[in-house]
Amino acid sequence: MARAPDGRVAFVRGAGPGDVVRARLTQVRKRHLRAVVEARLIDGPARVPRFCPRVDVCGGCPWQGVDAQVQGAALQAHVQRALDQATGGPAPLLPLRAVAPHTAWRSTARLHWRDGRLGYHRAGGDLFDVPECPVLAPPLDALYAAARRRLLPALVGQGSLRLTGAPDAASGTLAAFPEGAAPPELARALAALVEAEPSCHGAALLDRFEARTFGDAVDLFGPERVPHPAGTFVQAHQPGAQALVAEVVDRLRGAPAVLELYAGSGGFTFPLAAAGLQVVAVESAPRAVEALRAAAAARGLADRVRALLGDAAHLPTDPPRVALVDPPRGGAAEAVAALHAAGVERLLYVACDPNTLARDVAWLVARGWRLEEGRCFDLFPHTGHVETWVDLRRGPS
Ligand SMILES: C[S@@+](CC[C@H](N)C(=O)[O-])C[C@H]1O[C@@H](n2cnc3c(N)ncnc32)[C@H](O)[C@@H]1O
Repeated sequence: MARAPDGRVAFVRGAGPGDVVRARLTQVRKRHLRAVVEARLIDGPARVPRFCPRVDVCGGCPWQGVDAQVQGAALQAHVQRALDQATGGPAPLLPLRAVAPHTAWRSTARLHWRDGRLGYHRAGGDLFDVPECPVLAPPLDALYAAARRRLLPALVGQGSLRLTGAPDAASGTLAAFPEGAAPPELARALAALVEAEPSCHGAALLDRFEARTFGDAVDLFGPERVPHPAGTFVQAHQPGAQALVAEVVDRLRGAPAVLELYAGSGGFTFPLAAAGLQVVAVESAPRAVEALRAAAAARGLADRVRALLGDAAHLPTDPPRVALVDPPRGGAAEAVAALHAAGVERLLYVACDPNTLARDVAWLVARGWRLEEGRCFDLFPHTGHVETWVDLRRGPS
């Protein structure tokens, strides 16, 4: 971020703190400008070598080239500002945690296809072909190479692929989401991929009409072997996510029961159950709930884990007094209002968007809640995204 001579904020893509650059304006608005670096004239003190040859065209890692500690400080400052405003501050945030690795860290990635190209969206918008990507974790790297070999001719029309593979696994899964009806050759190509490529143990074809699976289309993540059916949510930075889950579970340890909203296929559910809590888990994706129920039954946890398919805003009757929410980027406004109305006393809120988190925290603070403590985790290296948990209590301390 820079300041134009007239005081307007300028967002300069490709620049880092302290750099002196020549930049081309790409957008002029009343309150802000956007620009892209044409030449770096003097490097700032935070400048480090970049590891990807496509970083300037790709929109994926815009902070690559900036020292990791400086990235972390910027994320922490952003969340601190948002939560100070929400609480009337200063909000009690612990120091940000960043867990290795910073390259080859992605255990899941979404790539898009159109007209025979398979890749990411360019920083400016359109799709560009990506032969390989240095932030993919090793099992995904091999899986992506196999997918390009086997699937490219069958990727007609447009759609997206989600690749997933646990960092300690030898193979992963792939989900294909064609826009509209699936081309018949894609089903055949997915079956052949699973059959012939050791890097792929399962695949799913998910169009508007049905879900077809090939092989064993489930990955197992982390010490609790949490099941993730191909195409459902999983955290991309697994070592960081495991540290976050461990910290949240530790804070909740000792509570007899927890109402977990936005449970996915059990990223928190199984670690919470292993810590001895009764868990009522609510999730709206049917395939995730099926996987959660099946794994709970298979592991003898059916009496400890109750999985409900539904909307997080519709709470079960007589919910536990302690809740955990982990919503998508839009936040949890309706669910938070429902938890408040239901008399919940404590809320652990895990968020991937500090702005919607701050909005929901401000709503609770206005109704007598307080933010006890929180922490940010750098789960998206080289980007401005950050994950945060906050521990909220009803009433004064
Ligand atoms: C950020 S993910 C968290 C998943 C899980 N906690 C984990 O760590 O793996 C958000 C989850 O919320 C689910 N979801 C989205 N909207 C929902 C809603 N209105 N009610 C219940 N679940 C919802 C998504 O399907 C997704 O699984």
